[in-house]
Amino acid sequence: MTILVTGGAGFIGANFVHSWLGSHSETLINLDKLTYAGNLANLTGLETDPRYQFIHGDIADRALVSNLLTTHQPTAVLNFAAESHVDRSIQSPGAFIQTNIVGVFNLLEEVRGYWQGLAELARDQFRFLQISTDEVYGTLTPTDPAFSETTPYRPNSPYAASKAAADHLVRAYHHTYGLPTLTTNCSNNYGPYQYPEKLIPLLLLNALAGKPLPIYGNGTNIRDWLYVTDHCEAIQVVLAQGRVGETYNIGGNNEKTNLEVVHTLCDLLAEIKPRDYQALIQFVPDRPGHDLRYAIDATKITQELGWWPRMTFEQGLRATVGWYLEHPHWVDSIISGEYQHWVATQYQGQS
Ligand code: NAD
Ligand code: TYD
Repeated sequence: MTILVTGGAGFIGANFVHSWLGSHSETLINLDKLTYAGNLANLTGLETDPRYQFIHGDIADRALVSNLLTTHQPTAVLNFAAESHVDRSIQSPGAFIQTNIVGVFNLLEEVRGYWQGLAELARDQFRFLQISTDEVYGTLTPTDPAFSETTPYRPNSPYAASKAAADHLVRAYHHTYGLPTLTTNCSNNYGPYQYPEKLIPLLLLNALAGKPLPIYGNGTNIRDWLYVTDHCEAIQVVLAQGRVGETYNIGGNNEKTNLEVVHTLCDLLAEIKPRDYQALIQFVPDRPGHDLRYAIDATKITQELGWWPRMTFEQGLRATVGWYLEHPHWVDSIISGEYQHWVATQYQGQS
């Protein structure tokens, strides 16, 4: 038994690879393009594991994907690969269209051909799992009910629109060809190995370095935060027990304003390494089209599949801070090079 994971050198993918290999005997093939967000240091320790193989390549490369499918005969393909940062999608949307739409189309085409050639039992058992986001649903007012699986798609950023397009393709491949697909739409993740362009690791590393903590607009935007290992568990549950053709929302039941996030983080850091971190908070110009609020109604996955988040926000944040403090070499290798270029472009003149 083998599974093919794409994007397994990124934040969530790497956490998933570790948790999968920690609890399964199947072989795992990891196909990753190693963009700025992909990092083999996220997979340290697995190089000598006979159940693990890394392939450097693009999900849009049909010949490569075809060859991998034929050679390894996976029972499931889990697609984590994506361009994933909203601010980058605002600056340069082209890469999002290429990977999140064209890449997913090419991957689906090759998977369809492979799946159609399988024997009947293997066809029935095969799964294609698309890892998606709650951002496809657009934005909520403070009093709207949370997103459910039947909320209409209303993506607002190029990132969200590209993920929505991919989800629609996955849906169509199930309805048209019968491909046994599953889709998960998850809220904001945080935890080990997250590239520090995203809010929590950005604030954490800036705070430790005594740099400004940039908060877009007035800081009242709300996200529903989920610790990454809870997301990985949910994916495993959906893969094992999810109903074919269905989508499952995954969330942390942890709605926080960005101000609450930064204040909680500053208080936590002050306990560990005393200093006035709150004084570093700096309000900066808002993100264009900034979605006000995301919130997930995870009733379906809880009731059907028995999953719920284990970590509270306070526990998860403490674990995250601990991980970053214990991995200075990982941090140093990330914050040199491309990351400096991104920070200079995105936060130009603001610090
Ligand atoms: P990430 O940016 O940290 O990692 C993405 C990975 O995909 C990287 O390793 C990168 O090298 C790889 N990749 C990019 N383009 C590729 C291509 N064309 N072919 C092969 N590999 C490619 O992203 P993440 O935060 O780990 O997110 C993983 C998935 O989860 C994405 O699909 C994202 O949309 C989704 N998601 C993320 C969050 C979140 O809060 N981070 C929440 C919900 C859903
Ligand atoms: P982010 O981590 O980029 O995730 P997403 O945009 O996909 O939700 O941002 C989370 C929230 O934090 C979002 O409301 C934007 C805000 N934010 C800031 O206020 N400052 C920052 O420097 C960043 C990166 C994000």
